[in-house]
Amino acid sequence: MKKKFFNGGRNAPCPCGSGLKYKKCCMGKREPDPEKLQAEYAKKYRIRIKQAADIKGIKRAGRLAIKTLDMVEPEIRPGLITDEINTLVHEFTLKHGATPAPLNYRGFPKSVCVSVNEVICHGIPGERVLNDGDIVNVDVTTILNGYYADVNKTFFVGTPGPDAKKIVRVAQKSLFKGIAMVKPGNTIGDIGWAIQKYAEKNGCSVVREFVGHGVGFEFHEPPQVPHYGIRGEGIPLIPGMVFTIEPMINLGKKELVILGDKWTAVTKDKSLSAQFEQTLLVTDHGFESLTPYDL
Ligand code: MF3
Ligand code: CO
Ligand code: CO
Repeated sequence: MKKKFFNGGRNAPCPCGSGLKYKKCCMGKREPDPEKLQAEYAKKYRIRIKQAADIKGIKRAGRLAIKTLDMVEPEIRPGLITDEINTLVHEFTLKHGATPAPLNYRGFPKSVCVSVNEVICHGIPGERVLNDGDIVNVDVTTILNGYYADVNKTFFVGTPGPDAKKIVRVAQKSLFKGIAMVKPGNTIGDIGWAIQKYAEKNGCSVVREFVGHGVGFEFHEPPQVPHYGIRGEGIPLIPGMVFTIEPMINLGKKELVILGDKWTAVTKDKSLSAQFEQTLLVTDHGFESLTPYDL
């Protein structure tokens, strides 16, 4: 039997990006020329599809980014100040011949984002002291040989209480649910839909103001990847797309406030917020994480 180029089902959005159902469009027709599809994605969505050599490069950057998180994790303990995490990440990155993407990015003053408790994201490392029972997100973006990989995890400081345990578990599983939707023919909307459904079912809320994003050639490329949404809506995924999924999940309400430093995003109700992020590649039949860790 001829290998089907698409297995998203007859009623799924056509992978050619027409917006029609597959059965009303390319089903039964000749396999679409990948080069044509890629040109169409560039023109229509400004999405730059990655080739084999690019994927190798992003994967190398990703391995270093993961190693950076692995290096930081055992250093996290009560009494540490967040600027010490910045120093660890900065020096480790340079030592491995890479550059920390956050430093001077749109005026960001440090080499890593460190977000404690009610801080949703973009926390600036400084004099804040980590206390027993806190949660802390460390978001590392590494540039190696011109390729970007973006990854983060939320860690416990000392012994977590029940709220900390819950929000970290729900955020981590939210990323898992989003990643599970990544395959050709599924859409960007399917990813957000799966995350929102899971997080809200567990009594948590999804941050709307920050989204996942294309990544690889630059820090932030199209498309945007919201962590909420409607099943079947949005751009159909095609092989060679590389983007992050990075749900920010709040224990309380979804609203946020940006502090006077213009970066730090905190929950308006001061509830705990946790996040996990990986950089994903759409493959012919599913996905591959370019910054893999167990979920
Ligand atoms: N790493 C963040 C992301 O996942 C972006 C941080 S932007 C910075 O997209 F300037 F704060 F570093
Ligand atoms: Co990101
Ligand atoms: Co990030």
